[in-house]
Amino acid sequence: MSEFVQRCINGDCRTVFGIDEAVYVCARCGDLLEIERTAAGVFNPGALREIWRERRMSLDGRNRSGVWRFREFLPFDDDVEVVSLGEGNTQLYDAPRCAQYCGVEALKLKHQGNNPTGSFKDAGMTVAVTQARKLGMQRVVCASTGNTAASLAAYAARATMECMILAPSGQVSAAKLAQALDYGAKVQEIEGNFDTCMRAIRELVEDGSAYLVNSINPFRIEGQKTVAFELAEQLEWRAPDHLVVPGGNLGNSSAFGKGFRELVDAGLLDRQPPITVVQAEGAAPFARFFRERAAEIVDEEHPQTLASAIKIGAPVSWKKAWSAVRDTAGCVLTVSEQEIADAKAVIGRDGIGCEPASATTVAGIRKLVNENVIKKDEAVVAVLTGHLLKDTDYVIKYHEGKLVAPDGARIKSI
Ligand code: F0G
Repeated sequence: MSEFVQRCINGDCRTVFGIDEAVYVCARCGDLLEIERTAAGVFNPGALREIWRERRMSLDGRNRSGVWRFREFLPFDDDVEVVSLGEGNTQLYDAPRCAQYCGVEALKLKHQGNNPTGSFKDAGMTVAVTQARKLGMQRVVCASTGNTAASLAAYAARATMECMILAPSGQVSAAKLAQALDYGAKVQEIEGNFDTCMRAIRELVEDGSAYLVNSINPFRIEGQKTVAFELAEQLEWRAPDHLVVPGGNLGNSSAFGKGFRELVDAGLLDRQPPITVVQAEGAAPFARFFRERAAEIVDEEHPQTLASAIKIGAPVSWKKAWSAVRDTAGCVLTVSEQEIADAKAVIGRDGIGCEPASATTVAGIRKLVNENVIKKDEAVVAVLTGHLLKDTDYVIKYHEGKLVAPDGARIKSI
């Protein structure tokens, strides 16, 4: 018997599903599921830190993966056959020019773009595709603005599974599309946006013929939560004063929330960092929900941003992300297209490349310093989610002064 279950997050429902049921959402109330230990684990923090450090020196693939290295917190037996590309173990960079731009003494960038397929998705995908293989699935599918597609396509190829992707037509960068095709995925572009694709893919898996690996699948969150473990280790087991992430479908912020919660529960950290989520102004349903202190999120029907990765109006994981923000006393804010573009260029001047969606973090930090929410001497970590080469069209247009925002305004380059 596994010591893990999937449990509905709805406080009035809390229905439990077996760890190997391919359910995605609660079959009773439709809410999200979260993976949970059936009995509180008893951990020896000192011993765990030592084991995790030793594994980094090992030649075993599982030990070298920045995700599976922390497998004491993953919902698998020790003999599971993992599907891994050596994900994780990403750099935590000092970024002095970004710090100066934001008005803080120091700023660190956790670069999840330095993953095998160039985005943070790989940390979740290794776990979700491992679960797919364990369940004997032959076919894996997702809706995507591009990075999930590239990542899933690669891991499916490693596991010799068939991979099908729904993507919004004409809205995925060429690089991401190229990756998915090269890894052998079947890509179907459909009219509409990411949310249209997400609805369609959820219907498609209803007959059980394919396994859905968007972040609605709680196994994705399990993998992505290990980034909190890796970050805590890099900070010598101290929480930063602020952790800032971009927000689209809100799986990443949910995963950080769960990861830090588990670290504190296990005695590995003494507190959770405030988690702050930054959205692009034109695609900001979660920021509006936060600002208006609303009871429910209201979807944005026509999300607009040049940061195509986060052009999302109906974020599936908003309830989990809200728990993460609320429980850590973080916040949610928006930044403009000009602010995103400028922040991206400043990150570049630190010798670190990222894609537009990732730059929302540095733009957001600058804003929060101006508003005195972040203090000058606080320890701030921003998570960069994707690699510079994911969207070169944007970069060239920006530096040539030819980048035009969705509302027709010309973006000036600094
Ligand atoms: N940054 C990048 C580079 C992304 O690709 C995404 C999401 C996000 C941030 C937002 O993360 O959804 O967990 O809040 N990309 C998804 C995709 C939607 O299909 O690749 P989130």
